[in-house]
Amino acid sequence: MSKHRPTWIEINLDNVAHNVRKIKERVGEQVCLMATVKGDGYGHGSYEVASVALKNGAEKLAVAMVDEGVMLRRKGIKAPILILGVSPLEAVENIVEYDLMQAVCSIELAEAISKESVKQGKRMKVNIKVDSGMNRIGVRPAEVVSFTKQVRDLPHLEIEGVFTHFATSYYEKDFVEKQYQAFKEALASLEEAGLDIPYRHCSNSGAVVNFPHTYLDQVRPGSMLTSPVKAQFPDLQMDLRYCFCWKTKVAFLHDMKKGESLGYNLVYTADSDRRIAVLPVGWGDGLPADLSNQGEVLISGERCPIRGRICMDQTMVDVTEIKEINVGDEVVLLGSQKDQEISHLEWTTILGGYNNHIVVRCLVTNRVPRIFIYQGKEAGKRVPLRPEMNKEIVF
Ligand SMILES: Cc1ncc(COP(=O)(O)O)c(C=O)c1O
Repeated sequence: MSKHRPTWIEINLDNVAHNVRKIKERVGEQVCLMATVKGDGYGHGSYEVASVALKNGAEKLAVAMVDEGVMLRRKGIKAPILILGVSPLEAVENIVEYDLMQAVCSIELAEAISKESVKQGKRMKVNIKVDSGMNRIGVRPAEVVSFTKQVRDLPHLEIEGVFTHFATSYYEKDFVEKQYQAFKEALASLEEAGLDIPYRHCSNSGAVVNFPHTYLDQVRPGSMLTSPVKAQFPDLQMDLRYCFCWKTKVAFLHDMKKGESLGYNLVYTADSDRRIAVLPVGWGDGLPADLSNQGEVLISGERCPIRGRICMDQTMVDVTEIKEINVGDEVVLLGSQKDQEISHLEWTTILGGYNNHIVVRCLVTNRVPRIFIYQGKEAGKRVPLRPEMNKEIVF
């Protein structure tokens, strides 16, 4: 953490290693593991998660956009990196320069990569993206053969993979089966046309847990690298761990009299004399404002309710029931302390809507330093506001 503001996230890379090994065990030796580390590794540090994944069974990586791939290359990652999203034509120079493998579903992008590959004297791999029913990006199964032929005929390009993405794999079976069927038909038509593509893939985390028959040649999980995914069927349950613990320290203590209110808009009024701890963290750090007057934190292993509105940089909690408390005491916002836990599920139940555990972790902003625990000890540190305090892990 920065010594100037004691709010930080501990990322447990040993748990990432555990999760990756469990995934590899689940999918088996024959299936290639492509670790999806977009969105800064779902808020856990994409370089760190990628490095640990590659040491524990992953062979390839996937990211959402060119700059995420460029960053990994600049840090020395050599493994194949697939860009899952559509890249603008302006990015093609970097795609080729940094040896990134682009997903293609428009001939303009494929042609631009081909042209740039010729210019830079390189051969580039691409993956064909098929839209099997999610209606996001991809070529329609009916067009996959003609599109693939067009790409195949472009100079300096090699079609390394063909893939699709499921819309409902975490919670619903029928639509997954419908998409899988559509994808399989697209694959069969490619085969019939003599288009042999080495890696066929569609399984994200939900499918790795729930639908083992969809693994094909490669799986592409993201969220399960750093958190449990609940299986729909009991016999498919996996032993996966959270890797993310958000902490801060008590900054200030004061007493409130019965009948007094606190914070913006005075949304909490004390019904008896209360002791309040102020924490140096708020929605400007990504602490969800909807936890105001609803969520709890852990101090000395006890649950303390959040009182009033969470502010941009500060949060008030009720510590009346804690026997001994001091400025500087450690507080857990999300994670475990002693035998208590504030779980991701607890937050997402309060928050509702689309605020699932993945969203919550990605919302933590750059103000919050990450401390990386690796091989049982603090091994690295990322402090975006004070880069001179960064410490790279030697993997
Ligand atoms: C195309 C694609 N593949 C793989 C993933 C990884 O998904 P998950 O985090 O559900 O494993 C994503 C994430 O949204 C994605 O968009």
